Amino acid sequence: MLFRRAGPGDRERAEPLLQKFEDDYIPLVWDEWAALEPGGIYLAEVDGAVAGIVCIQFVRPEEAYLAGMRIDPDLQGRGLGTEFARFQVEECRRLGARVARLLTAHDNVRVHRMMATLGFGRVGGWLIGRAPLDWQAMGHSGGPPARESGGAAALAYLAGRSQGAGLPGVVSVPGDPWLLRSLRWEEEKPENCLAVAGGRGGVVTGAALVEVGPDWEGRPTLTVRWALADPGAEEALLWLLHGQALRRQVTGVVYSLPAEMQWVEDWAKGLPGGEGGWSERFAAYEIWL
Ligand SMILES: CC(C)(COP(=O)(O)OP(=O)(O)OC[C@H]1O[C@@H](n2cnc3c(N)ncnc32)[C@H](O)[C@@H]1OP(=O)(O)O)[C@@H](O)C(=O)NCCC(=O)NCCS
Repeated sequence: MLFRRAGPGDRERAEPLLQKFEDDYIPLVWDEWAALEPGGIYLAEVDGAVAGIVCIQFVRPEEAYLAGMRIDPDLQGRGLGTEFARFQVEECRRLGARVARLLTAHDNVRVHRMMATLGFGRVGGWLIGRAPLDWQAMGHSGGPPARESGGAAALAYLAGRSQGAGLPGVVSVPGDPWLLRSLRWEEEKPENCLAVAGGRGGVVTGAALVEVGPDWEGRPTLTVRWALADPGAEEALLWLLHGQALRRQVTGVVYSLPAEMQWVEDWAKGLPGGEGGWSERFAAYEIWL
């Protein structure tokens, strides 16, 4: 068993392995991943053949993310994945990472067991869904009127509601829901922070962090990464988000949210046609090195 970084010519050598995973996205991102530095694609070899792959990515200089691990289906369940993952953690450390993270489907039992063996901690759940934007069917032009206030008010609200400390764990990178990063308030652009003011006196009752850009298939999209609202103000906030999506002329709203924001999904499912497009669920893991 040998673990090593992929080099020139390894794409062809990995082809038989990649073909065993139907409709997988790895072939589409291979070149991009292979060029990453530090990190890149790593291979597990058994008897001279490629038996496993993974990509080590650096989201920030000291934050590694493990993506797209695959073990040859004919060799799964024999401990190879666990050994390979142990190597990956060491490699992240060697490359200077202080933390390594990954996302896995909530029902991927093998990965959950592997994480337990390797000492990763579960740091939250994630849901990703795409809501349709069929405004005619909705009979709305952006929902009930809501007084919007600026980015600063939104940030203040979000920070206050999150008790201000260590906020808020991990979130996905807009436009690339497969990556994780730590959210840093100071990096948020005001135009990506939306607040809705309701009630008397224009008090902010809900806020969200959003980003407009292409989704993973290149469609112009409004991605909602964080959403908090006072009880009773949830719907106004969500209509504000959809109103923004309309104004910014995107083709859909992607929710990429911590699992505890399930209420957003529940609401979006109630929209006409909203049952479709939901939802993938992930668990986020991390290990400090
Ligand atoms: C997930 C994957 C990488 C794990 O590799 P692997 O070589 O099969 O893993 P291991 O043999 O080391 O097994 C890992 C754990 O899963 C358990 N396991 C293996 N097969 C299992 C099965 N069919 N059902 C339940 N548990 C299983 C093992 O017992 C082990 O747990 P333990 O150490 O507590 O006993 C591999 O199965 C794979 O490529 N799956 C498809 C792609 C995928 O899901 N990638 C991960 C994306 S995050």
